[in-house]
Amino acid sequence: EKNMTGKICGTGSWAPDRVWDNNDLAKMVETSDQWIRERTGVVQRHIAKEDEDTVTMAAGAALKALEDAEMKAEEIDLILVATISPTEIMPCVACGVQERLGAEKATCFDLNGACTGSLLALNTAQAYLAQGIYRNALVIGAEKLSGLTDWTDRGTCILFGDGAGAVVLRAEEGGSYAQVTHSIGKKGGALTLQSRNQIRYENDPKAKETYIQMNGKEVFSFAVSKVPEAVKELLSREQVSCEDISYYLLHQANERIIRSAARRLGEDISKFPMNMDRYGNTSSASLLILLDEMKKSGKLQRGDRMVLAGFGGGLTAVGLVRLLRVRRLSRDPEKAADYDASLKDERTAYVANKARSMAFFISIYVQLAAGLLAILVFDRPLVGQVLCGLTCLQGLLYTVFYWHYDKVY
Ligand code: UT7
Repeated sequence: EKNMTGKICGTGSWAPDRVWDNNDLAKMVETSDQWIRERTGVVQRHIAKEDEDTVTMAAGAALKALEDAEMKAEEIDLILVATISPTEIMPCVACGVQERLGAEKATCFDLNGACTGSLLALNTAQAYLAQGIYRNALVIGAEKLSGLTDWTDRGTCILFGDGAGAVVLRAEEGGSYAQVTHSIGKKGGALTLQSRNQIRYENDPKAKETYIQMNGKEVFSFAVSKVPEAVKELLSREQVSCEDISYYLLHQANERIIRSAARRLGEDISKFPMNMDRYGNTSSASLLILLDEMKKSGKLQRGDRMVLAGFGGGLTAVGLVRLLRVRRLSRDPEKAADYDASLKDERTAYVANKARSMAFFISIYVQLAAGLLAILVFDRPLVGQVLCGLTCLQGLLYTVFYWHYDKVY
């Protein structure tokens, strides 16, 4: 029996043009740019205008992902949208996207998994692809949280933003995909959003609860303990070590949560890309927007192994690994050849770089040996000291350079 996995062959994202920075928020509630930056890492967020909604944002991201995958909308078999902020409950956002894209043969539905929604949607799509039920899937995370945010509550309004991210998955033979998921319903009260269909009359006090309400501290401590725990569980189950992971993509809720997770995993923070400074927390969209940015900026290489992990309303925590053996699947033979050539160039550059390092080390060991020989065998202490001294100096310069290089890149 064939083992099929959904390979990511295109990514896309979309965010409204309107941007509110922290100073704009400081005009609405008692807060400051400094407080928000220091406690959350958020600097600005995108806010949808009246004519923009979850469907328009989702479709915007989806179109870009299809373009990136060089795939036609008609080839899509499944459209799955993760969202907690549909403008209409019925029809679902996925059907709205289908209509806009003309993806006529696609099966469409939405999934509510709050901030872990995009990962749960990826899991769901993978299950369909692995079973051979569908071949091409479009997974989207889209949120218009600005409509569900209480702009008088400084404990929540500083965090959230609007946007959408999308990926195209194509079923291919081979590959692997692993996930862990934890849902802890008894902690659900820490992050809630009551449905508006409970409001029975004008000025119903229940209306206040139809905005996002959060016990920030509880969600924070859940995230800092549960996310590293889920990641460790995933890695040990898959027998993958931290060194094999190129990047950890964590839900973009708070920079302090990500820094703490990095510390608890014993990993360098440079492996944890972040963009909450520009988007805030976009819930279901956050990881897919980040993934798109990573891909478009050329940071993802073929064969990179990545962990994606999310946490949020439910409360839930989800981790995925090995999802991405990122491939540039091009149908256009010329483009495919270009890509193969660029991989070859990369390989040549890598080998040349290794050869240079080897030559450097060999030369300093020869120098050191010559210095020791001059002192011990040929009775030329001054020549020996100069040679040994030079070796130490080169070693020191190399260490400083390497340290700096490592920090900067
Ligand atoms: O997708 C998942 C969604 N949720 C999350 O990931 C949220 C996780 N939680 C958090 O990110 C943090 O808990 C927050 C950023 C929401 C809050 O940060 P905190 O460090 O937990 O602050 P706090 O609630 O303990 O408040 C500390 C102080 C308080 O003042 P006092 O009592 O010490 O005098 C607050 O009143 O900061 C005050 N404060 C603010 N000050 C300025 C709370 N919010 C603000 C604000 N601006 N926006």
